[in-house]
Amino acid sequence: MKTYTAKLVLVAALAWMFRACYKDVGPVEPELETDTEVSFSNDVQPIFNAYCIACHPSSGNLDLREGRSYSQLVNVPASGYPAIRVVPGDPEASVLYKKIDGSGAYGANMPTGGQLPSTDVQKIRLWIEQGAKNN
Ligand code: HEC
Repeated sequence: MKTYTAKLVLVAALAWMFRACYKDVGPVEPELETDTEVSFSNDVQPIFNAYCIACHPSSGNLDLREGRSYSQLVNVPASGYPAIRVVPGDPEASVLYKKIDGSGAYGANMPTGGQLPSTDVQKIRLWIEQGAKNN
């Protein structure tokens, strides 16, 4: 009886240990280096091209097509919200960022009905943090 209890304790302990081991295993979210300089034309615009321009020549009075997007975003008041689309240096105050971060702070998350890959969300966040340059 004694050894049975000991075995039970051992099995329970092992199970707990393996549970602890496997806890960290899962899909690894790629992280961007925060000192990487994000380029508007090479990093941000391609995200708009892939996910946004189907609706955003005009939806929300926002044109995200190449050559027009920058001047529609930085320091420009949103058309549907009493806030600025992109405040250089401040993603949390930027409607563009709050529309893609899953917060729902300004109505529907973008792209409508979906969620950008986390690396793309990070790129846009970094671009804003780095001053939202037209680079
Ligand atoms: C299926 C269509 C659709 C897609 C795709 C889409 N949007 Fe939108 N978007 C809308 C509509 C409709 C509105 C207006 C209603 C609202 O504010 O949610 C809007 C509003 C916005 C606004 C607020 C504009 C303002 O000044 O009020 C932003 C910012 C925005 N979208 C960004 C994006 C970004 C970035 C993407 C791509 C990642 C994207 N959208 C993809 C339909 C879309």
